[in-house]
Amino acid sequence: MGRAWGLLVGLLGVVWLLRLGHGEERRPETAAQRCFCQVSGYLDDCTCDVETIDKFNNYRLFPRLQKLLESDYFRYYKVNLKKPCPFWNDINQCGRRDCAVKPCHSDEVPDGIKSASYKYSEEANRIEECEQAERLGAVDESLSEETQKAVLQWTKHDDSSDSFCEIDDIQSPDAEYVDLLLNPERYTGYKGPDAWRIWSVIYEENCFKPQTIQRPLASGQGKSKENTFYNWLEGLCVEKRAFYRLISGLHASINVHLSARYLLQDTWLEKKWGHNVTEFQQRFDGILTEGEGPRRLKNLYFLYLIELRALSKVLPFFERPDFQLFTGNKVQDAENKALLLEILHEIKSFPLHFDENSFFAGDKNEAHKLKEDFRLHFRNISRIMDCVGCFKCRLWGKLQTQGLGTALKILFSEKLIANMPESGPSYEFQLTRQEIVSLFNAFGRISTSVRELENFRHLLQNVH
Ligand SMILES: *[C@@H]1O[C@H](CO)[C@@H](O)[C@H](O)[C@H]1NC(C)=O
Ligand SMILES: *[C@@H]1O[C@H](CO)[C@@H](O)[C@H](O)[C@H]1NC(C)=O
Repeated sequence: MGRAWGLLVGLLGVVWLLRLGHGEERRPETAAQRCFCQVSGYLDDCTCDVETIDKFNNYRLFPRLQKLLESDYFRYYKVNLKKPCPFWNDINQCGRRDCAVKPCHSDEVPDGIKSASYKYSEEANRIEECEQAERLGAVDESLSEETQKAVLQWTKHDDSSDSFCEIDDIQSPDAEYVDLLLNPERYTGYKGPDAWRIWSVIYEENCFKPQTIQRPLASGQGKSKENTFYNWLEGLCVEKRAFYRLISGLHASINVHLSARYLLQDTWLEKKWGHNVTEFQQRFDGILTEGEGPRRLKNLYFLYLIELRALSKVLPFFERPDFQLFTGNKVQDAENKALLLEILHEIKSFPLHFDENSFFAGDKNEAHKLKEDFRLHFRNISRIMDCVGCFKCRLWGKLQTQGLGTALKILFSEKLIANMPESGPSYEFQLTRQEIVSLFNAFGRISTSVRELENFRHLLQNVH
């Protein structure tokens, strides 16, 4: 008996050693494994695993979220696509048809949405009144005391240090409503040096990265520089690493969409968009990307968890009785709010939420400075979106950065105390309609990406 055991253990040991020896060198068998080999099990910097997210997202969240995003409240996004790029001025406006964005005719947008961008609650109506007063001059003495207070509060809200994005002035004549359902994010042919420059600036100048360290694949360098990069990344505090991972996750998510809605056929008779597995592999295959692809996909899940956590935290804000998804259609508005709350409760029930309290938790002064840095870097990225040459990409880039910015604002807001039901939600915390629309649409995009990964997993099973 004892000898048999010894033999067995010995054999297992040999097998294990053999595998270890080959593990590094051996090419994983299938195309699917080459993209997804690292994308399973636990994720770094959090206690969640990919399989739990997939199940939760694909079957419980994704279908309901899609339905919500088709509603009038969420499909019309007001955005200024004509803002000049603040960093350089030689933008090559690509002339491609697929880059065009069709703004809405003014009679398409429901009056309720047009009439006021903040018109979602009693309180907001009052604030709107105040804003008008403000434009006329300082706080109008004739306003009630209550209204004056609201004005001051609103002003504070406006220039508060909460905001992670450079917010478009939606009162500007250049800001227009866009129907997101009619202008879907998909492959536009926008690539090459211009697109590359945008991402490169984002990573190079805005991810806390010193110039001396090169990002992998930034200029086709070999293994050693890659190690330098990841050593550097590992050495960072969790917050700065998180920043990089969020940006990388966003980049990955956008590339998943472009691969899933690739322009497959372009004749005068018809255009067909669909999955392009080759394109997906070029972005995410472990071998073709020298190991980068699977990391990008992991960062996509990380981004998902961050936005998921923000949505669960912001639930009390949407539960306020006077909150409305106001479009002017009472019945529809009430149904939408019910669906929204159902989704948020579902999100809240997710068992493995990210713990944002591990962020900015150190020494108070240092944490404050770090948070400020984080915010400034992120704001900068939202401004870079005005430099994207292709309007369709600019639209979705702005929407997704604003959505992520709103998620960060929620996560790091001290005004929104999530876990104190007895005190009720703090009314100091506010979101504008534009922030709400971008928050949910941005999350909808990442949710779609996670769903699409399942499609690509299946498609890749037939590829070698
Ligand atoms: C903002 O971006 C610009 C252009 O990339 C860069 O020159 C500047 O240093 C950035 N500032 C911060 C705080 O990242
Ligand atoms: C898929 O994408 C690749 C580039 O990654 C391209 O060369 C190929 O033509 C595309 N396939 C189709 C059917 O459009």
